[in-house]
Amino acid sequence: MLGMDFVRNLAITELAKKQLSLSPGLQEIANAVLKHCIETSQCGLKLKQFGVKVKQIQTLCSITLLHDLGKLVLLANKEDEYADLMGRSIENSRPLWRLEQAVFGCDHAAIGAFLFAMWGLPENIVRATAWHHEPSSFASNEFCYVTLLHFANCAAHVKNEMQFYYGDELIPEVAEKVGLPVDYVQEFD
Ligand SMILES: [Fe+2]
Ligand SMILES: [Fe+2]
Repeated sequence: MLGMDFVRNLAITELAKKQLSLSPGLQEIANAVLKHCIETSQCGLKLKQFGVKVKQIQTLCSITLLHDLGKLVLLANKEDEYADLMGRSIENSRPLWRLEQAVFGCDHAAIGAFLFAMWGLPENIVRATAWHHEPSSFASNEFCYVTLLHFANCAAHVKNEMQFYYGDELIPEVAEKVGLPVDYVQEFD
């Protein structure tokens, strides 16, 4: 059963997409980003088999829907410059967020987290979004939303190749610390 948080976050992503007046080419990229968010949610659900608590899984699946919304903000503001940067991330085999940091001085994770904080969304959404590419500071022997989002996001990139930009990579030490097999994606049911 879908929780109210999940429904709220799904509604936010849909509204965000509708608010953007993008050219058809950029709209296609926006759709791919939102498809990735849903795939990340589905991968989050699979983490249940590694002993993550049911309540945590429910919250995680909700957070995943929002985690890359900062990409839509960049797409709406930087348009073709951002689409070109996506292409460069594939050419250079570098995760997109690293190029964003180099070119814009911040990345989509920081932008999304800033937006969610302004909207007054719960702290676990803000924190997980902000650190989903760089979760090492949160690595401990227990799952938390930052590391869980990192695992779900990386799994989505392994399972579904992204057409428009180079996917994010797992930080193996973070998985090892929490006792998650590094090849956990291969073990998904
Ligand atoms: Fe991301
Ligand atoms: Fe992502």
